[in-house]
Amino acid sequence: MSKKIMILPGDGIGPEIVTQAQRVLDAVNEKFSLNLSFVEELIGGASIDKHGEPLTDAAVENARSCDAILLGAVGGPKWDTIDRAIRPERGLLKIRSQLGLYANLRPALLYPQLVEASSLKPEVVSGLDILIVRELTGGIYFGEPRGIRTLDNGEREGFNTYKYSESEIERIGRTAFEMARKRGKKVCSVDKANVLEATILWREVMDRLAPEYPDVELSHMYVDNAAMQLVRAPKQFDVMVTGNMFGDILSDAAAMLTGSIGMLPSASLNQSGQGMYEPCHGSAPDIAGQGIANPLATILSASMMLRYSLGMNEAADAIEKAVGKVLDQGLRTADIATGGTTKVSTSAMGDAVLAAL
Ligand code: IPM
Ligand code: MG
Repeated sequence: MSKKIMILPGDGIGPEIVTQAQRVLDAVNEKFSLNLSFVEELIGGASIDKHGEPLTDAAVENARSCDAILLGAVGGPKWDTIDRAIRPERGLLKIRSQLGLYANLRPALLYPQLVEASSLKPEVVSGLDILIVRELTGGIYFGEPRGIRTLDNGEREGFNTYKYSESEIERIGRTAFEMARKRGKKVCSVDKANVLEATILWREVMDRLAPEYPDVELSHMYVDNAAMQLVRAPKQFDVMVTGNMFGDILSDAAAMLTGSIGMLPSASLNQSGQGMYEPCHGSAPDIAGQGIANPLATILSASMMLRYSLGMNEAADAIEKAVGKVLDQGLRTADIATGGTTKVSTSAMGDAVLAAL
């Protein structure tokens, strides 16, 4: 049975890194006779330039008909001053929301070969293996009302709404408990229940779910403390579950523990297991077009896609093994290069992964 994959290269370094992931997918497609087919659409600034909006409805419909989606990154200075309703990022939020991709899985895994690339001491990070489960279609990112309004005194005011319904909290909570079952059996729920009502309810719902998962230990932590603990003693965490905005922030912090955000893949799943896969990093306009971006987060996102949405574990294992091998060989893009390693370009890194496959 053929599986259809949508490729959304996006902006900045997006097309460069997606090209390398596509080469890797083509290789496993052939090697393991996966019968994958690919379609490509525009998203972000690339779509604004062509269609005047960051993601067309036609592209969303096309995405719906696909088994999985692989995305590069969106945004860049060229579109920073554009009307905020059609900013590149809105394309990303639109596809997440329209496809109901509420469960964002962001694994922060330290490859032993990269222990020196982390900004923290080796003993603090070696063996690190955290899974951040971020709610992706609710919270302050989507809450209405929102906007910028003019007050009676003529001053302008920006406002957003932070809200979560019980059912939204429950479904992401279940994702976290179920993921923890397959891992270290610990869930740390991150909130700001000392201040925000939306997260008082969040904590209540997590506590209500806990007895259904007696094999998993649930703890709670305020987000400010969680940020501190992530850089103080990150190995205390197994699965962390949190809302959209806190998850955005904490996952960048967790990424850095692993040496570089250029290493971190992610999966965003909906109720039916359909998923979108993307690196956790952004479009990095400062290095776009230079051929120095790290393609490994995207290549690893492709492997997560094979595993989580397509059930092609053998091919996923092969890709992850190949990445390990390339790191063993001492090959590094600029973001993860340390003394004694060999600095390579984006495409040379892709070549090396293909050779290792
Ligand atoms: C991420 C990104 C996005 C987000 C931006 C580009 C809208 O930072 O995927 O973490 O905030 O969700
Ligand atoms: Mg982010």
